[in-house]
Amino acid sequence: MSTLPSTLDEFNRQLQAVEQLIAKKDLRPAAEQLNTLGRAAPQHPAVYILGMRLGEAAGNPKAALQAARRAVECAPGWPVAVIELAACLARQNALEESLAEAQKAIDLAPEDLGILSRAIDIATHARSPATALPWLRKAHALAPDDLTLGRLLARNLGQVGQIEEAKQILEKLLANAPGNVELLAERMTIRYQSGDAAGAQQDADRLVELAPDNESFRFWRQKIAGAVPETQPPEMVKGLFDSYAPAFDLHLVRGLKYDTPRKVAEWIRGRYPTLELNILDLGCGTGLLGVFLGRINGFLIGVDLSTKMLEQAARHNVYDRFHAVNLLDALRETPDALYHVITACDVFIYVGDLGSAIPDAFRVLRPDGNLIFTCEQADESGRDLVLRDSMRYAHKVSAIQALCRKSGFDDVAIEFVDLRMERGAPIRGFRVIAHKPA
Ligand SMILES: C[S@@+](CC[C@H](N)C(=O)[O-])C[C@H]1O[C@@H](n2cnc3c(N)ncnc32)[C@H](O)[C@@H]1O
Repeated sequence: MSTLPSTLDEFNRQLQAVEQLIAKKDLRPAAEQLNTLGRAAPQHPAVYILGMRLGEAAGNPKAALQAARRAVECAPGWPVAVIELAACLARQNALEESLAEAQKAIDLAPEDLGILSRAIDIATHARSPATALPWLRKAHALAPDDLTLGRLLARNLGQVGQIEEAKQILEKLLANAPGNVELLAERMTIRYQSGDAAGAQQDADRLVELAPDNESFRFWRQKIAGAVPETQPPEMVKGLFDSYAPAFDLHLVRGLKYDTPRKVAEWIRGRYPTLELNILDLGCGTGLLGVFLGRINGFLIGVDLSTKMLEQAARHNVYDRFHAVNLLDALRETPDALYHVITACDVFIYVGDLGSAIPDAFRVLRPDGNLIFTCEQADESGRDLVLRDSMRYAHKVSAIQALCRKSGFDDVAIEFVDLRMERGAPIRGFRVIAHKPA
């Protein structure tokens, strides 16, 4: 009996040593030591959890998932193994199965805040507020003073339309932490969504006072005051799409019937049947244009602010290079007459003012080249540029036509399209193909 604890201690120490080797990316010695541990304890789930980490660190997702599944087979009643499997599935974008496993882990340990928090992260990553809601309620009940959990619960309630409860939670938390910027930002959003512009304005003013360098707060303050800020701050775009990246393709293409990249790829194939051309894909996101186009006989370059979107795009292996920068800077710094085609699918809705983007795109195109992009359609009787409550911009067709012509394009073809669905209704927009003289 007396040797067992020290044997266990030694085993755990060796597991920790392997974990540290993986963290340092010393993968070969980590694999050797893990194999030794696996031979000594072939049914120990912790060995397989480390096997999963090793597989991920080595860039072998298949092996990682196999190891995570094996950990659960060894200990089906151990919530840690089950939530590790759920997290591994989420990292591989198997979102539905990851949520089901997360639920199983919670069923095994309904009062465990650590498991609940990880499950909530998984549901957030999968953009599934309805799934996260009961988990957040439970977590908030267990830790009512935890500001992050309370804020996330309020956000989820807002997302599923339970605004009053969301507000009450935020009021309670803010009573104890009146200068908490994250809570104030959450309340500002919820107040704005619920039509309380005066309350939202108060929060926005306070936020700008507390964090004067924060561009997003200044953007929101302008928007709430009824002004139209020139563009969405890069950090806001990056924050939105970094968190959206894993669920983007599934959500947008399947859920919201988004088909612009497919249509644009079809047009390119028709115009350049041999695919001998260079393309600059502005705001390339997860690389859907490249997916529909396949490999081309020229350069396909992707530009995007969100590194997480670019990580997804890189998996398809069709882009030659990526630049994680603001497309306005990319265009400004690109030499003249380099590309046959420049695309911007569903991107200018975040850029807003196109006063520099369109003339720069004209300069960067080769003679006879084309700029193809989509916009949400603003009412012709209103302003040229509108910032909608969705925080996306809409452009007036006539203003875009005028800007393209002023920039030098000789033919500006407009096609009216439904861009995607939103709350069950199509978003009206238009696709532009602007041609540079030969
Ligand atoms: C709705 S997604 C569209 C992605 C892709 N073009 C498609 O059609 O699937 C918009 C993308 O534009 C990127 N984006 C928005 N504003 C940007 C900017 N100023 N510079 C670079 N990328 C931007 C976002 O990060 C996001 O990946």
